[in-house]
Amino acid sequence: MSAFELNKVAGAVLFAALVAMIAYIAAKNVFDSHTVGHDVFSANDHYPVPGNMLNEIEEIDLSNKEEEAIEVSFLDLVSTAGIESGKKVFKKCAACHTIDSNGANKAGPNLWKIVGRQVASIDGFGYSEALKSLGGIWDVERLGAFLLNPKEYVPGTKMGFSGIKKDRKRADLVRFLITLDTESK
Ligand code: HEC
Repeated sequence: MSAFELNKVAGAVLFAALVAMIAYIAAKNVFDSHTVGHDVFSANDHYPVPGNMLNEIEEIDLSNKEEEAIEVSFLDLVSTAGIESGKKVFKKCAACHTIDSNGANKAGPNLWKIVGRQVASIDGFGYSEALKSLGGIWDVERLGAFLLNPKEYVPGTKMGFSGIKKDRKRADLVRFLITLDTESK
C-alpha cells in the first residue's frame, strides 16, 4: 500500500468517526430535550452548551403559554361559549332586566347593546353613585368580572344579585348578550 493510499484509508476512517460523533451529539441533544426536559443537572452531563440552549428555549415557550392562559382565559371561554345555554342563564337576570331595544327599565336598567355600552348610561334610570363613578364601557372582561361578584367589583352597587360563579355559565351569558345585540341590529 502506498503512502497516498494509506492516507486515503486513514482519512476515510477519520471521516466515519466524525460522522458518528456528530450523529451521537445530535441524538444526545434530542434525547436530552425530550426526556430530561427542564432538569438542568442532567442536561449538563454531556455537551452542556447545546443542551442548555434547548432547555432555555423550551422554558421561554412554556412561560409565555402560561401567561397567555391567565390573561385571555375568560375571552377564550366566551369565544367558544354556547349561546343557547347563555339564553337560559339570562333567565336569572330577566326578573330585573329587559334585553330588547327600547325595552323598559325594571328594577335594573334595560340591557340592549350592553356589551360596548357606556357604564350607567341609560337616561332616567336611578343608578347608584357607585356605578355612576365606575366609568368606561362594559367590555367582555369587565362584564365577566362584574357578573362574577357584582358587589365586589362595584362596592355599593344596588344590583341585588350574588353573581354567577361558574366561569363557563358566565361566559355563555356574555356570549348571548353579544350575539343578541349584533343579530338584532
Ligand atoms: C334583583 C334584580 C337584579 C338582578 C337579578 C340582576 N340585576 Fe343587573 N342590575 C340591577 C340593578 C338595580 C342595577 C343598577 C345597579 C346600580 O346602579 O348600582 C343593575 C345593573 C346591571 C348592569 C350595569 C348596567 C349599566 O347600564 O351600566 C349590568 C351589565 C347588569 N346589571 C347585568 C345583569 C345580568 C347579566 C344579570 C343576570 C346574571 C343581572 N344583571 C341580574 C338589578 C338586577
